[in-house]
Amino acid sequence: MSSPTSLLIRRARIYLPTSEFTIGDVLIRDRQIVEVAPEISPNATSTREIDAFGLTLLPGVIDPQVHFREPGLEYKEDLFTASCACAKGGVTSFLEMPNTRPLTTTQAALNDKLERASTKCLVNYGFFIGATAENLPDLLEANPTPGIKIFMGSMHGPLLIDQEAGLEAIFKEGKRLIAVHAEDASRISQRRKQFAGIHDPAIHSQIQDNQAALLATKLALKLSQKYQRRLHILHMSTAEEADLLREYKPSWVTAEVTPQHLLLNINAYEEIGTLAQMNPPLRSPHDNEVLWQALRDGVIDFIATDHAPHTLEEKAQEYPNTPSGMPGVETSLALMLTAAMSGKCTVAQVANWMSTAVASSYGIPNKGAIAPGYDADLVLVDLNTYRPVLREQLLTKCGWSPFEGWNLTGWAHTTIVGGQLAYHEGKVNTEVRGQALSFS
Ligand code: DOR
Repeated sequence: MSSPTSLLIRRARIYLPTSEFTIGDVLIRDRQIVEVAPEISPNATSTREIDAFGLTLLPGVIDPQVHFREPGLEYKEDLFTASCACAKGGVTSFLEMPNTRPLTTTQAALNDKLERASTKCLVNYGFFIGATAENLPDLLEANPTPGIKIFMGSMHGPLLIDQEAGLEAIFKEGKRLIAVHAEDASRISQRRKQFAGIHDPAIHSQIQDNQAALLATKLALKLSQKYQRRLHILHMSTAEEADLLREYKPSWVTAEVTPQHLLLNINAYEEIGTLAQMNPPLRSPHDNEVLWQALRDGVIDFIATDHAPHTLEEKAQEYPNTPSGMPGVETSLALMLTAAMSGKCTVAQVANWMSTAVASSYGIPNKGAIAPGYDADLVLVDLNTYRPVLREQLLTKCGWSPFEGWNLTGWAHTTIVGGQLAYHEGKVNTEVRGQALSFS
């Protein structure tokens, strides 16, 4: 699978920037899309051709919230294994979170991640800078980064900013995007005491309840309004938060939801136990439906996986000693396209929520659309066949998925990163490398 000078994708069902689909060809040269037309004749012998008859061509998924564990926690995942999983899942770019070891709270730590990614990442990458009580100058100057990550709850150590004064100090300085993990730390610690001694993981959703999420989201919105500060609400999980945003959502605020908060709920604990434990926790079937509606109505802007792998050994401990989090990059696109095929939404909406809207919200130039001049980050999906999620086929180092056994369609047939075939017909090309993303 060496990379040819140019690549011609023939007879694909192409997602256009108008949100319509057309059957046609796409010509790629030097990492970019150069032509989209009903029929393109190759004029160079070095052009590789892919016959995409029956397949749908979408802009590559940009996953705007992942935890890839490198440096420091590579026993769970690393940038190479995670990016292989991305390629298999149709994810061509990711934005990664700062809770690695060391924490990504300085320019030096950010540079280290960028350097590591340049040598081992099959897909494109960007890294958040994490806020602590002490690193305001780093937050103002770090570059390149999609924004500042604040953990308002569900975190221990320096990355936790749970007091209003500490949050305000960050909101009032600078302009760059602030992305919040919105859960109220003091409500959670009080409820943890109240429910101490219960080892059923289902209690997790009651300890870190809807109210804990709502309180923190309200506070973040209040500060964002006070300073007109660009705010992004990460993995929104409750009906209450969706209702709040439906009533009041300034133009500078965006929100995301994960496939697991749309498709799994508290009933999952019975079947998969602590594998269903994540932060913010899974909610009720009612929350699932309200989140779906908010997504369809544009109250929620896009999808992120919050890919947060932990080993099966760690997950096999007794709650509450088990870590929160589940992997997601390998299954997110197929899950959402399966939902589309079952009538929950359209394929065009999935393409928007998983690529176009992410690129425009984070100001990532030249990504998120299939048109001349855009980067050739693409995924060809097969919407005709269904295949189950099988543990033995997973590439994430943690080796499990909360969706094992789910029968899905829309699996990636070919994933193209900068014009190179990173995944094709069941094989990952480990030679392919992505590039650092920029943010405007
Ligand atoms: O469940 C979670 N786990 N949620 C987060 O936001 C962090 C993550 C992790 O890093 O394990």
